Amino acid sequence: MKRAAAEAALQSVTHGMRLGLGTGSTAAHFVDLLGARVRQGLEVVGVPTSERTRLQAEGLGITLSTLDETPELDLTIDGADEFDASLRLIKGGGGALLREKIVAAASKRMFVIADATKEVETLGAFPLPVEIDRFGARSTRLHIERVARGLGLEGPITLRMSAPDAPYLTDGGHYIYDCAFGAIDAPETLAERLRAIPGVVDHGLFIGLATAIFVAGKDGVRIVG
Ligand code: 5RP
Repeated sequence: MKRAAAEAALQSVTHGMRLGLGTGSTAAHFVDLLGARVRQGLEVVGVPTSERTRLQAEGLGITLSTLDETPELDLTIDGADEFDASLRLIKGGGGALLREKIVAAASKRMFVIADATKEVETLGAFPLPVEIDRFGARSTRLHIERVARGLGLEGPITLRMSAPDAPYLTDGGHYIYDCAFGAIDAPETLAERLRAIPGVVDHGLFIGLATAIFVAGKDGVRIVG
């Protein structure tokens, strides 16, 4: 289903486009399919949202750029951990949320590709990733807890680990707290308040960024938005 969503989104890619390339298993299908089109002669420039995606795209012979060289993009294609009917997303399960958000914000359009299991009525079943500076991590965590409590949200906040004694580090060298708050009734307010915490680099709520969502289910691909 992830590949079907990626295939459907690929139909919108045309010659000469400047593309943001997302991160995760669904985005990896897209990059793989794009690589095949490039081998057939399609010319595009891609800006990867992670080192993982950069390595994959490089290996497939896709011409790559950076936001410094190509600060405006035509289209970003990326996955999501959850989405709702208002095209609001939770992202960051794959740890690339900061670069994903920067790249999406630099793009005229963002297409999300996902299987139907990612669709929710209310965001929050998937723990919200919050990327933080390593300095003062425990204080930042207390601050996140206070902000969440103020909105009636509670639940375990877990430092993401890559090994039992090694916290996961993002491409930017930051930590991630996975915040299992449950249903987030006011994602805009939470997004604003989290961003205001010193030490929070960014969070996985993507609001007002997605233009369309390609949802693959048993009966084919449906476009939301
Ligand atoms: C990475 C992400 C991914 O898009 C998200 O985790 C979805 O991943 P997958 O396609 O593997 O389900 O936000 O930071």
